[in-house]
Amino acid sequence: MAAVNRKWSFVVAANRLPVRRVWEGDTARWVPSPGGLVSALRPVMSGNPDAVWAGWTGVPGPGAEPFEVDGFQCHPVSVSQGELQLFYEGFSNATLWPLFHDALVPPEYHRTWWDAYRTVNQRYAATVADLAAPSATVWIHDYHLLLVPGLLRTARPDLRIGFFLHIPFPARELYIRLPWRAAIIDGLLGADLIGLQTQLGADNFRRAAARVTGAKIIGKTIHHEGRATRVDAIPIGIDTGRIARLAADPAVQARATEIRHTLGSPGTVLLGVDRLDYTKGIDARLRAFKELLSEGRLSAEDCIMVQIAEPSRSQVTGYAEVRNSVEQLVGDVNGNFGVMGRPVVHYLHQSQPIEELVAMYQMADVMLVTPLRDGMNLVAKEYVASRADNTGVLVLSEFTGAAQELKTAELINPHDIEGLKTAMEAAVHRSDDEAGVAMKAMRRVVRTNTAQRWAEGFLTRLEACR
Ligand code: G6P
Repeated sequence: MAAVNRKWSFVVAANRLPVRRVWEGDTARWVPSPGGLVSALRPVMSGNPDAVWAGWTGVPGPGAEPFEVDGFQCHPVSVSQGELQLFYEGFSNATLWPLFHDALVPPEYHRTWWDAYRTVNQRYAATVADLAAPSATVWIHDYHLLLVPGLLRTARPDLRIGFFLHIPFPARELYIRLPWRAAIIDGLLGADLIGLQTQLGADNFRRAAARVTGAKIIGKTIHHEGRATRVDAIPIGIDTGRIARLAADPAVQARATEIRHTLGSPGTVLLGVDRLDYTKGIDARLRAFKELLSEGRLSAEDCIMVQIAEPSRSQVTGYAEVRNSVEQLVGDVNGNFGVMGRPVVHYLHQSQPIEELVAMYQMADVMLVTPLRDGMNLVAKEYVASRADNTGVLVLSEFTGAAQELKTAELINPHDIEGLKTAMEAAVHRSDDEAGVAMKAMRRVVRTNTAQRWAEGFLTRLEACR
């Protein structure tokens, strides 16, 4: 049990705690979340007696008492039902998320959402200020908490503050539409180090900061009001070891064979695994697949597509629409090209445990990762980490952070449907030799830049900042 009132020398703050609730009958218990951030921080947090994680439990209402799960000390921050709508669904996911993803759906600007965003960020800052020991290191994560570094700097000038943005930072021309653009830049500039997924994101941020606040940029550092903030591209990795261990597990391998058999042992399986989000380009890939079948360039007897779409943010603008469009396309392809007992697209609107995902990665010949915009995309990296025999082709959108590292993937522009079709067709017919060379190079990348190295790298740079 994490003690109330104690002080910690390392504090992480993120919108979500590293745990989720699972129900067994009528009893609920906390288990560690599967996400990339949790694996990245496990080595520096789990079992560390000086580290605590502040965040939301995912359940609206008054905050629970601090607790411990799997070595993670968790300090819940409360978010009320009203704040869930205004702060989480509203400002975070219907203003910032679309704006930072190139306004793929129009961002909405509401003053009530902004007020709630400020209130929740103030609560986080006050919580962290209270938890942090003198001169502690604090690491704040993602777009839900953009104001926290600045608020915290004012309350606790002694702290060393790092911030990492997991999503893209948009072009300055887009960013400056935000009515609260200056407050957000000021909030971020409370940090000593800001990490972004790509060089482009880091450049965009520096340019926006200079335009909005008149800050001076010298090299990678922003100088503003007597403070310096270093801005670096520090791309996140995955827990490669864990994925590799699962891929080597005979039970997972047997499951891969079984899935393929269940699909009717087709010549080629194409796979998509995404949160059901309009940024992921799921509809574009289904449309491309449908046209390839109509034009006879791929055959429904030979090629099967599997699409896992994890339910996500169903109350937020744009999500119900993308679900409708994806499900219509699935119906359309199956109606036109399926035969009794054998659909061409197998679609699951369900989340899957990691063991099942790795089995799917292993049985898929072609992995389709086609977002219109994505900060990193860890699925692309997990697919690569699962392909120990160097087989398989990754079709990857150039608008993902992952494309900056996985340069030998089959890179595509998801807006260019003809280009996407050509790449998908080529991927299906790629020779093992060619695929092997590309996969080997990508596997070197995911072995080198792991989640753990990312966390260590960030913290080492943060140490060096002040
Ligand atoms: C993205 C964000 C994360 C977020 C995740 C799931 O990866 O960068 O901060 O936790 O999506 O979204 P959710 O809204 O369910 O937390």
